[in-house]
Amino acid sequence: MEQSRETFGSQIGFIFAAAGSAIGLGNIWRFPYLVGMYGGAAFLVVYLAIVLIVGVVCFIAEVSFGRHTRQSNVGAFKSVNKAWAPAGLIGILAGFMILSFYSVVGGWAIRYFFQAFAGYSFADPAASADFFGAFVSSPLAPVIYHGLFMGATIYIVYNGIQDGIEKYSNIMMPALFVLILILTVRSLTLPGAHEGLEFYLKPDFSRITGEVLLAALGQVFFTLSLGMGSILTYGSYLGKDDNIPYVSTVVPLMDTLIAFLAGLIIFPAVFAYGFQPDQGGGLAFVTLPAVFDAMPAGNLFGGAFFFLLVLAALTSAISLLEPVAAYMIEEYGWTRNKAVLIMGTIIFVVGIGASLSQGVWSHITFFGDNFFDFLDNTSGNILLPVSGLVTAIFVAWVWGSDNALREATNDGAIKFAWGNLWANVLIKYVAPILITVVFLSSIGIIPVGI
Ligand code: PHE
Repeated sequence: MEQSRETFGSQIGFIFAAAGSAIGLGNIWRFPYLVGMYGGAAFLVVYLAIVLIVGVVCFIAEVSFGRHTRQSNVGAFKSVNKAWAPAGLIGILAGFMILSFYSVVGGWAIRYFFQAFAGYSFADPAASADFFGAFVSSPLAPVIYHGLFMGATIYIVYNGIQDGIEKYSNIMMPALFVLILILTVRSLTLPGAHEGLEFYLKPDFSRITGEVLLAALGQVFFTLSLGMGSILTYGSYLGKDDNIPYVSTVVPLMDTLIAFLAGLIIFPAVFAYGFQPDQGGGLAFVTLPAVFDAMPAGNLFGGAFFFLLVLAALTSAISLLEPVAAYMIEEYGWTRNKAVLIMGTIIFVVGIGASLSQGVWSHITFFGDNFFDFLDNTSGNILLPVSGLVTAIFVAWVWGSDNALREATNDGAIKFAWGNLWANVLIKYVAPILITVVFLSSIGIIPVGI
């Protein structure tokens, strides 16, 4: 059975699938809103450092671990050491929680796609914010769009046509990239763009706190799809001759580039139009219409942009549902169809709560957050980093970093310039210690600040 596991046709197949998982709402919706909330450029600097020191390092670990075990999350831990099976569960829980609010935001993107027909010219910035607020807080419409998004995700995973959709996204993702470049130019040339650039690129290091570090760490795991089995599962389909260090650098690089450009679109517009950078989850949706409005054929650009964003979100959502379903199949013997339908439906129902918490249920709080923010914060700031920490420790110390290095270099057949550094220092000490330090600093045990 294990030898016959299907593999991607080629390395490029893995790159597109993994990039499809990584690039999504995390880059265009979540990243800018965190930058805006956590001090602009200071957050960006911390984020980039963590991508390099923790993100790429853990990415290599997950891909190697997946290819070695040829299993998805829980099975992978089990096959190396039975006692560690629960470690995989953290990621499954994270995936479940993420998808339930992710799908709500995917629904918002669908709604904004349809807005292309009416146009993105709101009377003034405040009107754009009002439009967003009125939409997300209404009890029915966003739930229906959430249902559309989740329905599409379930449909794709149910019919096992991920491959098709991923091939499709081979064309769509470059298109999204080109569109993002065009929008970047438009935004950078807005009158008053420099103030936004300063906010985004000129760090004020006094803004760095434990909370900022944790938000950046969580975002790195979120955006790279680490810590919940997505990349691990894709790694399990990677061919034995493929170059793990290479693919594990290319995908985070593309992901980081898209996120960085998203910030270059959003922050100049935030300041040019007098929006609040720290308004939270509405930032991208409130700001982008202003950018479209300032372009010739803005409706066309806006419609195309949100269409591609929905697709990018779908390829991420697929990779969120897949490990959750795989878990029910592998551990409980469910059929594939049953697993996808039942888990997808439960996620949809939980997501209804997330949607309603933007309006009629906003008074119900969990540890001070509404339900949406609770799901977002708990999965991003706690579950993913914890799962990443556990995975790093497991790979380095239980499976063994020498074994992992052998896997990552195809038994020494390929060159991995910093392989020894990765195996003996980065995955063994630096990544786990850094994640731990960030946790401790966020709860005030280790002080940061200048
Ligand atoms: N990385 C995706 C994004 O940035 C979200 C995601 C997280 C997908 C975790 C899979 C696993 O949109």
